[in-house]
Amino acid sequence: MATQLQSNDEIQLEDLDPSELHRFADGSIHKTMQRLRAEAPIHYCNDSPYGPFWSITKHRDIIEIEAVPATYSSDSANGGISIIDSNQALEGSTMESFISMDPPRHTAKRRTVAPAFTPSEIERLSTSIGERTSDLLDNLPRGQGFNWVERVSVALTRDMLAILFDYPWEERDNLIKWSDAITSFEMIENQPQERMAMIFEMATTFHKLWDQRSKAEPAPDLLSMMIHSDALGHMDAQEFLGNMALLIVGGNDTTRNSMSAIIAGFSQFPGEWQKLLDNESLIPNAASELIRWQSPVAHMRRTVVEDTEFRGHKFKAGDKVILWYVSANRDEAVFKNGDQLLIDRENARRHLSFGYGVHRCVGARLAELQVQILLSEMRARKLMPELIGPIRRAENSFISGITELPVRL
Ligand code: HEM
Repeated sequence: MATQLQSNDEIQLEDLDPSELHRFADGSIHKTMQRLRAEAPIHYCNDSPYGPFWSITKHRDIIEIEAVPATYSSDSANGGISIIDSNQALEGSTMESFISMDPPRHTAKRRTVAPAFTPSEIERLSTSIGERTSDLLDNLPRGQGFNWVERVSVALTRDMLAILFDYPWEERDNLIKWSDAITSFEMIENQPQERMAMIFEMATTFHKLWDQRSKAEPAPDLLSMMIHSDALGHMDAQEFLGNMALLIVGGNDTTRNSMSAIIAGFSQFPGEWQKLLDNESLIPNAASELIRWQSPVAHMRRTVVEDTEFRGHKFKAGDKVILWYVSANRDEAVFKNGDQLLIDRENARRHLSFGYGVHRCVGARLAELQVQILLSEMRARKLMPELIGPIRRAENSFISGITELPVRL
């Protein structure tokens, strides 16, 4: 197998494992993906810590595969949605969520959550999110260094989720703690028991909340809506738990890293920040472009359920297929100079960061809104901190995470 010491170009294609974690931590993943798109857009890695897998790196190929869930399954029984098999990721847990289901089961379950994300609902949340964002920016330390990820990205994502669920405000740190535990590759491998204990704690708390909100009068928060509306009301406690977990996981790291991309992106391309200062109307497109450039979810996985052929390659039932959004979002066939952040990029919204097809992200509008609000409040204050140390990225091939952004205002 290829070692970390070999450069990207030296490794033979058949030995290349694009999922190696160091690529995500040192940013070299983009070079690796560029090479795959050029030389082997459908690539087979026959030896990795996660077993053999196919890599799909072109924008159009990912769309084509996601359009056929009957052949390319998301079901946890077949392996689930990430390069780590689902039985390993959720061992011992009774949680089931619809992101890891196929139609028709998926269709019915998604319908119980999606109505809570209508444009009018999202609009309603924007006032509270705006107030929280504004307060937070006004209270950032001046003249001394701090980590933007913790002080801004984590804090605002946590607050956004707490507002969405009307979750007890003083306990809102739990939402992040649990969500991090569910997704941590590190904990899955090294601290499985501690991780399960946290998931159990989350289940108990959400169960209590479900009980309280079921008995209370209907209220406009998402939880109450899920429990009380006609369309959604038949959810039992177990399904409710699965949905809650999916929503906090789906909304957590992803939105967090989009907000971190603001600093990573504008510090690398300062001219783009000036464009935003000069032209307020670019805010919505800038948010989409940041979400493209960052690709907060680096990949989704599907499993082939029946032997099939794709662009001349024979996929066998049981094969693992990794859809690299981190690559599609910089595919030169769709995005010119994709490595560059361009807030007025005409087709920024064609990115695949939210996926495609039946599983396309339910929270996309909310995530965009959160990033737009943050950009808008930063712009209003002409607030762009100076980066005073190296950016650190997570060793994670599923979530493109930024862990440290040392900045000073
Ligand atoms: C920038 C932020 C976000 C990104 C990049 C993102 C990305 C994704 C991706 C890639 C998928 C799977 C799509 C596919 O398989 O085709 C997904 C699904 C999902 N996301 Fe998001 N997401 C974000 C924010 C959120 C937020 C804020 C929420 C809710 C609070 C959320 C809830 C969900 C749910 C419930 C699903 C499952 C949809 C389904 O299976 O039908 N996401 N998201």
